[in-house]
Amino acid sequence: MRIAYYNHTSSVSGAEINLLVTAAHYKRAEVTIMAPEGDLLERAREAGLLVVALPSYNARLSRNPLRLAAGILGMIRAGKQLSDAVMAGGAEVIHANSLRAGMMASLFYWRHRIPVVWHLHDNPPKGLVGKLIRMYAAKAAQAFIAISEPVMKGFGSSSGTVHLIHNGAVLSPFSELEKKRYRIDLRRQLDTPAGGRVMVIIGQIAPWKRQEDAIRALHSLIQQGEENYLWIVGEPKFREENLHYLKELQRLADELNVTRHIRFTGFRNDVDQLCCAADLLLLCSENEPFGRVIIEAMAQGTPVIATSGGGVGEIIEHGKSGLLYETGNIPQLVDHIRSLQSNDRLRKQISVNCVERVGGYFSIEQAAAKTEHVYAQLVRESAERNNRLEQTKGVAK
Ligand code: GLC
Repeated sequence: MRIAYYNHTSSVSGAEINLLVTAAHYKRAEVTIMAPEGDLLERAREAGLLVVALPSYNARLSRNPLRLAAGILGMIRAGKQLSDAVMAGGAEVIHANSLRAGMMASLFYWRHRIPVVWHLHDNPPKGLVGKLIRMYAAKAAQAFIAISEPVMKGFGSSSGTVHLIHNGAVLSPFSELEKKRYRIDLRRQLDTPAGGRVMVIIGQIAPWKRQEDAIRALHSLIQQGEENYLWIVGEPKFREENLHYLKELQRLADELNVTRHIRFTGFRNDVDQLCCAADLLLLCSENEPFGRVIIEAMAQGTPVIATSGGGVGEIIEHGKSGLLYETGNIPQLVDHIRSLQSNDRLRKQISVNCVERVGGYFSIEQAAAKTEHVYAQLVRESAERNNRLEQTKGVAK
C-alpha cells in the first residue's frame, strides 16, 4: 500500500510527533511524508522516511475579509499542488494529518480519486464555521481517525467510517543505569539540585495548556515548606497570544517569588530523557484532546498527574496508572503531588502500572496496525468503487 501522509505545516507538535513515530512502525504501508519544507521534513529524513517537499503557504485564516480570501486561495492552491504530488507518486490513500489537511486533500478528490482519511487531533472549531466544516467533512472524507472519544463525539459523526485510534508510544528503551545518567546530567544542565524534587510540564506554551496552574501549585508547595522544582518545557507557537502568555507566566513566577525554582527550558527534543530526569509529569490543560506526552512519560515509568477533561480519562485510571484532578483545582493538584511524593509505595505502584498500561493499550505497534487496517479497508473500497464504475461504463456502451 502506497500512502501519502500529508501535513499542512512543517512545525512539529503532538500531531506531527505521532505521525513520525507511527510512520516508522508500519509493516505493510509504504509511506511518503508530504509537507512544506522545515522541521517536520528534516526529522522525517533523519528517521529514514521518504519525503516530498511541497511549496509552503500561509496557513492562517483570518477574520479580515481580504486576508481570509487570500488564505482560502492559498489553501486551494496548496490543495492543487498536493493533488499533483499524490498523483505523481501513485498514492493509494491520502492520510491527512489535521482537519485543514483533510479539507485540502479532499477538495481535489474529483481530480485525484484517491481516498482520503482525515486524522482528527483536535476538538472541532465551534460555531457556524465548525458546523460548515463538519457538514463538508461528512460528505468529503472517505474515513476519519479520531484520537479520543471526546474528539470523535465533538465531531458529531456517527457513521461507521470513524475509527477511534489512540496515539501509541514506544516503551522505554533505556536501562535503569541510563535513566540514572539522564537524571544526573539533565539536572546538572538545568541547574537543579541532584536530590531535589522535580516536576515537569511539557507542551506548547499556550493559555489552554494552563502552565500557570503548575506555577501556582509549586508556589503552594513551597509555602507549605515542600521544596520543589518545576521545569516548563515548550515554546509559544502558532499565535501571538501564546507569546504574551509566556510573558504572563514569567511575571506570575516573579510575583509569587518562585522564579528560583522554575526553569523555562524552551523547546526540547529530549522529552523521553527529561521524563526520566524528573520525578513526575504534570498536565494542566483545559480539555486536552488526548495528551501524547502523557503516554510518553508513562512509557518511561514516570507518574503523571493530569486534568481529567478531554481524552485524558481514557489513558489514566485514577489512583492506578496515574492521578487525575479537576481542571484549575490547585488545592487538589497540590494534594495529589504531596501524596505521590510522600507515599513511596503508591509512587512505585503507579510507575509499574503506567508502563503496563501503555504496553497494553497505547503501544505504537497497536496504533500502527490499526491505522494500516484503515488504509487496507480504504484501498479495498476504492477498488470496489472503481470496479462498479467500470461496470456501469460497460453497460452504458
Ligand atoms: C494534538 C492534540 C493533543 C494530542 C496530539 C497528538 O496536538 O491537541 O492532545 O496529543 O494532537 O494526537
